[in-house]
Formats: sequence, structure tokens, C-alpha cells
Amino acid sequence: MNQHTKPNAPVLDSYWMPFTANRQFKQAPRLLASAEGMHYTSTDGRTILDGTAGLWCVNAGHGRRQIAAAVERQLSTMDFAPSFQMGHPIAFDFAERLAEIAPGPEGQKLDRVFFTGSGSESVDTALKMAIAYQRAIGQGTRTRLIGRERGYHGVGFGGISVGGILNNRRVFPQLPGSDHLRHTHDPVKNAFVKGQPEHGAELADDLERLVALHGAETIAACIVEPVAGSTGVLIPPKGYLERLRAICDKHGILLIFDEVITGFGRLGAPFATDFFGVTPDLVTTAKGLTNGAIPMGAVFASRKVHDALMHGPENAIELFHGYTYSGHPAACAAGIATLDIYRDEGLMTRAVELQDAWHDAMHSLKGLPNVIDIRTIGLIAGIELQSRDGAIGARAYDVFVDCFEKGLLIRVTGDIIAFSPPLIAEEKHFGEIVSILGDALKRAK
Ligand SMILES: Cc1ncc(COP(=O)(O)O)c(C=O)c1O
Repeated sequence: MNQHTKPNAPVLDSYWMPFTANRQFKQAPRLLASAEGMHYTSTDGRTILDGTAGLWCVNAGHGRRQIAAAVERQLSTMDFAPSFQMGHPIAFDFAERLAEIAPGPEGQKLDRVFFTGSGSESVDTALKMAIAYQRAIGQGTRTRLIGRERGYHGVGFGGISVGGILNNRRVFPQLPGSDHLRHTHDPVKNAFVKGQPEHGAELADDLERLVALHGAETIAACIVEPVAGSTGVLIPPKGYLERLRAICDKHGILLIFDEVITGFGRLGAPFATDFFGVTPDLVTTAKGLTNGAIPMGAVFASRKVHDALMHGPENAIELFHGYTYSGHPAACAAGIATLDIYRDEGLMTRAVELQDAWHDAMHSLKGLPNVIDIRTIGLIAGIELQSRDGAIGARAYDVFVDCFEKGLLIRVTGDIIAFSPPLIAEEKHFGEIVSILGDALKRAK
């Protein structure tokens, strides 16, 4: 009996689900009812190990009372306050706390913080900041935005323009002039690697090619995910990000790191910026910012970008941009409580302790049927399966459903399985993941 035919089951008709095959899902729904620590409980009472921190966001694990209490306190003190030409202390407090741990080395931290409501909003905000910055420094012809094939930057028109996933783009118009670097995935040279692969740094030179094609004076910014998540865990080759930074510097192009999934400890450092030792001009975040408890995003800007815009008459609004929910008090309360947990439990760097065991566990799946690549970094893994002829994604989808039925939540994109467990994970959880996934892989046709 399907869930929706059971007594007291929700009626599924009205909710138009995001990024979901609605009709297929509603015939056999997978419904989660509660969550605690490393686990969900499904509506039919099964315990499901969370291999994906929800959607790359619940870094401190589920059901954190400290966050719930902070939100409750804030909502009963002041539920909402406008942030346009008005302020409330908790938004400033949260920004100061974020500035302390902001991406970048001491003295060059990106410590000016703009709040948004999501990763997509953070991306569109950063892209607009980049164009506004160029104009403010007298480079108004620089409006072109460069992304990368297989990049994911959310679903705003800016994000899909620089994003590189066909299905997110094909139906929708894009910003004129946006262009793309090639992606860095090279399974022939770089298969089954732990950490950064050896081959592919020269792919950063694509930016030189685009400069030669379009003229540097037309390019405002280049945006990449330091580690691409949504297209199946693409890890930057050694030297790649450094080279991209150098080319941006040479041509006056701003570099934006989209750290919506890598921010807040995923790689064993607070940000990928710190982990790779390459400092961009803008960093976009969301997800782990509030442990996923309340929707929120933040853009970290360098002083260079921020200060360039703080000019003109003092009564002029410097950046005509913002959201009703920018700096929402309840989201700020959730964010501060989240930062407290990350600090007190050492979660921003915990992946360092876990990564050897994690990488070994994931790579132990090598040799199982249809596994053609495994790649790992920090507390992330991508396991790529051979696609069935003419049915891309079908095999991984079957594995996903099988794992869910056996008590493990995984994420699949095409025929790649992506893992990003909460940073509170323990080695025993890795064993459980390997066991359930391994069996599913053996069963998958
Ligand atoms: C790198 C990256 N950027 C942007 C986004 C969009 O975030 P949101 O879904 O919160 O809009 C995501 C979401 O997964 C992401 O992975």
C-alpha cells in the first residue's frame, strides 16, 4: 500500500514539488516525519541514516535544541523587522560573528556580509555586486559573467546563466553575454582519486581563451564552485584554482567562489577558500549557515569590493539590492546558535579527523558492479556508475530508492551518487553507508 493510501496520510495533489518527478513521486512517495542527530524517521516509522546532511546543509546534525530555542526566543521577542533603512541588533551581531570566521587569510578576510534568503539569492547578489563594483571603479563595460560547464549556482536567472547544467537552462532565457569555462572532470586521467586530482590545472586557461574571444573589458566576474557538488562531486585539479585566480588578477576580473555547499566545515576548514588557500573576491553561502534550520544565505565580500561601492553622497543607497528577508531576525538567531555549535564542537575542522576513514570507506566500494569512479575530499564523496544504455540516471535512481528502503538517504545526480554526511558523523556510520550502498549496488541491474 502506498503511503498516500494509508489512513491519515497527507493528500499529495496540491504541492508542486521542486526538482522532483511529481507524478512518479506521488505514486510511491518517500516521506520523512522527524529527524534527530544522524537520522531521519520516515512516516512509516523507519530509521533512515542521513548520508547527505539533508541537502548539504545540516552540518551539525538534526534536531539541535540550541538552534530551536534561539529561534523560539527570537520569534517571541521580535518576529520580523524591516532591513531597508532600518536595522535590528541581531543582524549586525550575526554579521560580526561571521566576519570573525570569514573566508580568507588574516588581513584579507572577506568580512563584509550581505544577507539573502538562499543560495540562489546569494549567487544573484554576488553577480550583481561584481557588475556594480566594475561600474563603480570606472569599468562599466564589464557586464559579462563567466561560469563553468557542469556548474550549479541555483535557479535564479543569473545563476542559470553562469550555471552549466543543460536541463536547468534549456527552457529558459539567459543573461546575454554569459559564457563558460570547460568543466574539470576527466575520469580517464583522474579516476579513483582521494583528494585533488593531478591532471587538469591547464583547464583554467579557458579563461584566457574567453578573454581573447570577448575582450577583458567586457568581463565582470568569473564564478566557480571550488568543489562542484550538484553535478556529481567534481574536485578541482591541483593548481587549477590558483591559476584561475592569477588569470582573474591579470585581467581585472573578479573571482567568485560559490561555497553554498563547501562553506562551514565541509572540507575540514571553515571555507574551501581556506582549505585550498586561494582567496576570491566574493564568496556565496547558504545551507550550513543556519544548519538548514531556517532558510538563509550570505555573501561575503572583500573590503576591495565593498569599499569601492561605499562612495557618492552619503544619503545615496550604495547598492540597489536586497530582500524582504535579508537579515531576518529568526534566521540570524538560528545562525548565531549554529556558529556556537560549530565552535563548541569543533565542527568546522572535524572533517580533518574523519577524512581518512571516510575516504577509505568510500574507496572500498571500488570493484562493485558498475562503479566506474570514486572521488573523495573532506567529508564529500562522489561515486560514479556506468549508465544504462539510453537511460542516463536510471541505474542510480534505482540504487537511491533501494537505499532509502533499506534505511539510507543518498543523493543522486545523473548516474553519480553524492555523499555529504553531517559533520557529527562517526566511523560506525561510514560502515553502515558502505554496507547498505554496497548491497544496493550488487542488486542494481
Ligand atoms: C553551489 C550551489 N550554489 C547555489 C545553490 C542554490 O542554493 P538554494 O537551493 O538555496 O537556492 C546550490 C544548491 O544546492 C549549490 O549547491
